Amino acid sequence: MIAPPGAGKGTQADRLAKRFDIDHVSSGELLRAEVEQGSDFGLQARQYLDAGDLVPDDVVLAMIMNRLVAADDAGGFVLDGFPRNLPQAQAAAEAAREDQVRVQAVINLEVSTEEVRRRLLDRAAAGGRSDDQEATIDHRLEVYDAQTQPLIEYYRGRGVLRTVDGEQPVDDVAADVLDSLIDLTSPG
Ligand code: AP5
Repeated sequence: MIAPPGAGKGTQADRLAKRFDIDHVSSGELLRAEVEQGSDFGLQARQYLDAGDLVPDDVVLAMIMNRLVAADDAGGFVLDGFPRNLPQAQAAAEAAREDQVRVQAVINLEVSTEEVRRRLLDRAAAGGRSDDQEATIDHRLEVYDAQTQPLIEYYRGRGVLRTVDGEQPVDDVAADVLDSLIDLTSPG
């Protein structure tokens, strides 16, 4: 899943994983769990998460690669929040080649900046996360535009990109995500 903060990556990845009985691997959730546990990864990651900056690639790669190999051995996975920049995408491609893991599809949820801001500010008003402050939300969106958005062309060039209108009710987005994968999921 590649999409801006608040676009619904977590919501849709969770549904997709349940639908196909595979793992949902969220780099953000893994990082927040490390912070919660006070682990070495968590101590290194915390300041970046709170500021809305990307956690350094070496920390993220060390944390996520073993998790992905285990998830692939268990039947596959939906990946949410990783890769987040070109070096991570290249490292993921290299690791996938070595472990003979195939990326079948990259789903790009398209949602306007106004809508993602609204969703994240609503979540902030309901308690939210430490990075759901208004200034941090705006910074996360800038980081997305500068570092993650270029991956859309990267994956389009590799022929795996599926684009879905994420600015609809959750059930409609989920239906369109499934439709976008029909060639991979229908028998024969
Ligand atoms: P991460 O946890 O990945 O968060 P994010 O990208 O900022 O995105 P969110 O989780 O806020 O939104 P989402 O797109 O998952 O949408 P959601 O379903 O939650 O990353 C957090 C931080 O971790 C980063 O800033 C960075 O510091 C670090 N990090 C993570 N991965 C990294 C990596 N690879 N490298 C380096 N650093 C990394 O929905 C959002 C809200 O909208 C919810 O309230 C939901 O209920 C609502 N909603 C969802 N869909 C709809 C809909 N269709 N209509 C209305 N509301 C909706």
